[in-house]
Amino acid sequence: MASDKKVERLKQKRKDAKKGGGEKRIKKQHDKGKLTARERLDLLLDKNSFEEIDPFVTHRSKKFGLEDKKIAGDGVVTGHGKIHGRPVYVFSQDFTVFGGSLSETHAEKICKVMDMAMKNGIPIIGLNDSGGARIQEGVSSLGGYAEVFYRNSMASGVVPQLSAVMGPCAGGAVYSPALTDFVFMVKNTSYMFVTGPNVVKTVTHEEVTSEELGGASAHSTKSGVAHFAEENDAICLQELRKLMKYIPQNCEEKPPEVEGKAPDKAKAEKLDDIVPDNPNKPYDIKDVIEGIVDKDSFMEVHEHYAENLVVGFARIDGRSVGVVANQPLSLAGVLDIDASLKGARFVRFCDAFNIPLVTFEDVPGFLPGTDQEWGGIIKHGAKLLYAFCEATVPKMTVITRKAYGGAYDVMNSKHIRADYNVAWPTAEIAVMGPKGAVEIIFRKEIQNADDPEAKEQELTDYYKEEFAHPYKAAERGFIDNVILPSETREKLIRALEVSENKVDNVPQKKHDNLPI
Ligand code: HXC
Repeated sequence: MASDKKVERLKQKRKDAKKGGGEKRIKKQHDKGKLTARERLDLLLDKNSFEEIDPFVTHRSKKFGLEDKKIAGDGVVTGHGKIHGRPVYVFSQDFTVFGGSLSETHAEKICKVMDMAMKNGIPIIGLNDSGGARIQEGVSSLGGYAEVFYRNSMASGVVPQLSAVMGPCAGGAVYSPALTDFVFMVKNTSYMFVTGPNVVKTVTHEEVTSEELGGASAHSTKSGVAHFAEENDAICLQELRKLMKYIPQNCEEKPPEVEGKAPDKAKAEKLDDIVPDNPNKPYDIKDVIEGIVDKDSFMEVHEHYAENLVVGFARIDGRSVGVVANQPLSLAGVLDIDASLKGARFVRFCDAFNIPLVTFEDVPGFLPGTDQEWGGIIKHGAKLLYAFCEATVPKMTVITRKAYGGAYDVMNSKHIRADYNVAWPTAEIAVMGPKGAVEIIFRKEIQNADDPEAKEQELTDYYKEEFAHPYKAAERGFIDNVILPSETREKLIRALEVSENKVDNVPQKKHDNLPI
């Protein structure tokens, strides 16, 4: 047994390490509406589950007066704990210590838990609140960042990596969160940008605030860098915990299962009448999703970015699924560049982590126009196509209404090896909608007719008779069945059950060459 003095020394060291940058700086942090690194971990992890690693690490700087300024932990709290009873590795940057800036040793601490997460097949969660590279350390600090980026890349697809940006995140530092699977941000207290407002003003003469340039709203609506924008630290951490419920510990495991729950009754009862008779009238695809999945289980990802495609996690009879759905309420549900990127990234996450995909399809096609073509809709649309093609998890598609053109192929069609494809009686599966089709293939007949309007109507009716239904596709076996909306949940439960042990592969290769 150590002497009392030795025990006292340890106790004192532990106490000092917990102080971070001291009371004044902690108060400053609280005054900004932010929690400290340790308070955040308390909220993120199950009670009393945190096991700290490296609390006594200090920096090795010998310049700029830092040699006399050493704070145990060096600006980042690292270790492991549990979320809903399952282990996770964590790091939480402490802004009260040198502004949470990343020194060589700070980076080493992060790398240590990342390496352990990889070895043990456990998710890694980073809470970011940092002034970036520790300026006094120069290239040692830049090297530290690169070590973290390298590990982010190697861990991608092996263990889930989640980031919460809860303070500044500037310069190259943004690339660590960007390499992770999901980025949460906190409104008004966090920002991410490669160059801040001052540099922007010097270079482009644009005047912009930090919040406008790289705040949670900008990144969750405009750039898509952030998947979630939360009101404050506590809600952010609560949502992060929630997300963990849907995902497995690593790429070898299946997601956790829970007790199934019937869907929202009111929404389930409306399903059979939800699709309007007028094909140009929108409806909310989220009502469809919520009428089918377990009650209160739908957790939308990227809610305010590319709203024409809805993606998110849900449960069907207790099983975790990734939902991808065209949203007729926004841009009629067309696929554009942002929607393609959003969908592709989500599909790839689900596939990497064994989460079955359920697609709800009502898509009039890809968005036309110079903006889209010059912006590269071809290569971005190809990403979504690629993601669905390569995915080997159980894949289901429900065509609720329009499945037109290339978008029919892209949205998890049978031809790209989806497992269970069904259509509602309201489905229309065709190369394009009746109006466009008739104008192209019957232009001469209409022009030469005595009554062009009547002729156009007659030919449109004929075209609709031929294509504005799901039965041509059903005859070919391109869909497995035509079902009533109210039957959808039960059919999906069975499809998920039967594909529980699905085995499918991609050809052996070094790695793919996704059209970036
Ligand atoms: C060392 C830093 C620091 C840094 C902040 N601090 N950033 N110390 N290196 N990068 C220290 C401050 O000196 C201060 O110490 C404490 O942290 C809090 O900082 P304040 O400025 O008082 O806080 P605040 O007013 O809230 O402003 C926060 C801030 C600002 C906006 C983040 O500190 C700032 O602009 N920092 C520099 C940001 C930056 O340019 N970083 C480099 C980015 S480039 P005391 O002792 O007074 O409490 C980069 C490259 C990465 O990171 C490349 C990877 C490839």
